[in-house]
Amino acid sequence: MITKEELSELAIEAMANAYSPYSGYKVGAALLCADGTFYTGANIENASYGVSNCAERTAFFTAVFDGKRDFTDIAVCGGKGGVLDDEIFSPCGVCRQVMREFCDDDFRIHMVTKNEITTVTLSELLPYGFKPERLER
Ligand code: THU
Repeated sequence: MITKEELSELAIEAMANAYSPYSGYKVGAALLCADGTFYTGANIENASYGVSNCAERTAFFTAVFDGKRDFTDIAVCGGKGGVLDDEIFSPCGVCRQVMREFCDDDFRIHMVTKNEITTVTLSELLPYGFKPERLER
């Protein structure tokens, strides 16, 4: 099984695929599925700023489109101009809600900086999150 260090390395590599001419900020994510496969993503911006898609959601939606429904971990990192940040980069509220849709409380989020990996669970990032009953998956 892939380690959090390896997953973080995949997220760092994914930063290179960002399309972020407006913010200049490159974000990468690597999502681990329960079956051991992984999907990466990067942020994709738009001239209409609100349309921009975060790295985490790029990874989630690619995986879900590919039929995956069970996830254990995601590594996320970001940096201006693609240079890894010193400070923790934590997922935005929209991405937390997307995680809530597909993940359990113990889903792990690894926030990767230049020097360390900080791990939290989804219930720590989004306590009392809204999740409808599990429908057909
Ligand atoms: N961004 C992400 O990709 N993930 C997050 O969790 C927060 C923000 C992106 C959106 C935008 O393209 C850039 O980072 C600057 O906010």
